[in-house]
Amino acid sequence: MLKRPLSFVQEILKQHVVENDIVIDATVGNGNDTVLLASLVGSTGKVYGFDVQEEAIETSKKKLLLTGLLPQTELILDGHENLDQYVSEDSRISAITFNLGYLPKSDKSIITMAETTLQAIEKGLARLRKGGLVTIMVYYGHDGGLEEKSQVTDFVVNLPQENYQVLKYEFVNQKNNPPFLFVIEKK
Ligand SMILES: C[S@@+](CC[C@H](N)C(=O)[O-])C[C@H]1O[C@@H](n2cnc3c(N)ncnc32)[C@H](O)[C@@H]1O
Repeated sequence: MLKRPLSFVQEILKQHVVENDIVIDATVGNGNDTVLLASLVGSTGKVYGFDVQEEAIETSKKKLLLTGLLPQTELILDGHENLDQYVSEDSRISAITFNLGYLPKSDKSIITMAETTLQAIEKGLARLRKGGLVTIMVYYGHDGGLEEKSQVTDFVVNLPQENYQVLKYEFVNQKNNPPFLFVIEKK
């Protein structure tokens, strides 16, 4: 009955993102969210996808090629904290997804970091259209994860209520640091 946070966020994106939208996948990884977003924005929309690992960009490029979704996707081998170099301030982005942590089945020492994640969220919020969403899947069971969880939580809970609504979706009786979700909606 109850969806896990990852399924829940995918449902939200499917309901929210429509053809022609411009969106950002801030942590491309294996490209699962990038493929979903590229299918939702269609051939007239655009997905900017960021990752610092070449392996992630290459794997995702293959998936997008195979699914015919590469034309509407710009994969960028750079940190999401530099998104202002690629996405203009008047872009009116409709959704930005973050999947924090490390690339599954890969080098666990390459993780998203609090400082750069927060820079990216701030730059992303400045480019988000009214009604746009930032989704943040917080994985924190790995080394360094607790620090990022704490700083991201501190940032989002202090966003001004006049400008943003912030939702937390979390199972509260599970062991082993289960991931949870923040969704920020710009009013
Ligand atoms: C949990 S994985 C993403 C999973 C992905 N959404 C998927 O569908 O497979 C986190 C990714 O963030 C990337 N990453 C780490 N630091 C980053 C940064 N500063 N900017 C962009 N991506 C970064 C890692 O290389 C890793 O691939």
